[in-house]
Amino acid sequence: MTGLPKAETMPSLVEVFGKRPGRMGLLDSGLERLDAGNSVVLEIGCSVGEASAHVASKYGCIVSAIDISSEDIEKAKRSNGHANVRYETARAEAIPFEDEKFDVVFSEAAFSLLKEKEKSVSEYRRVLKGNGCVLINDFTLRNSIDESLRGDMDFIPCFAGVDTKEGYIKYFEEQGFELAYESDESKEIVKTAMWIAKAYKTPLSELSGLFSGFLSKNDPEKDSGSCECFFQSAKLGYVQLIFRKGGK
Ligand SMILES: C[S@@+](CC[C@H](N)C(=O)[O-])C[C@H]1O[C@@H](n2cnc3c(N)ncnc32)[C@H](O)[C@@H]1O
Repeated sequence: MTGLPKAETMPSLVEVFGKRPGRMGLLDSGLERLDAGNSVVLEIGCSVGEASAHVASKYGCIVSAIDISSEDIEKAKRSNGHANVRYETARAEAIPFEDEKFDVVFSEAAFSLLKEKEKSVSEYRRVLKGNGCVLINDFTLRNSIDESLRGDMDFIPCFAGVDTKEGYIKYFEEQGFELAYESDESKEIVKTAMWIAKAYKTPLSELSGLFSGFLSKNDPEKDSGSCECFFQSAKLGYVQLIFRKGGK
């Protein structure tokens, strides 16, 4: 592995991921499919708020946006403030809003991270109106992997918690949601990988080495070999899923 940038000089992965070009395209297609203009919307895992500000300005929605990271929420208030967006530090597993407040709950690359997906989906159900919908755009696994490989991926939590599409659907169906739409958006992975490689000036073929560099930066004690193993074993994909609340 030659020519990789030094880990300590790298911008964070979340920062680079958040700045990927065309990142609103998939969100736009989902919201347009839901005809979500002027609706009351909740974003889960909003990070620094780019998507929420976009949804408020492009679709005239009233947006509440939560993230577990108070640091990100402070940045969101500073850099993506909007009259119709309210940012709050909170967890998906304990949403600080009343029952049946929202028309749409959405998240972009955040459902995969949630440590308690079942509890979170029951919260989504609680805060959605009777005919409300959930829009999920996220990483998926397209094969099964040796579960022990996840252990070293904590520095990319999307991958530590990624599940198969069927696994995600099960969480929702068990809570009485109906799958209304699904599409394979795995081309997003290629676009994102190319963007990350470009941002870090790393050849695409050396991406797993780049991620190993992040691992040794985060925890020099850890064996970065299993990180490379993860990328060699896991067939990652990206999906758009829409669920309708329906009766339970
Ligand atoms: C990969 S980032 C995606 C951020 C943003 N949606 C985007 O597309 O750029 C995932 C976000 O989910 C947040 N997060 C993780 N666990 C969470 C939880 N249990 N409740 C709320 N937010 C959570 C993280 O802090 C992070 O900002």
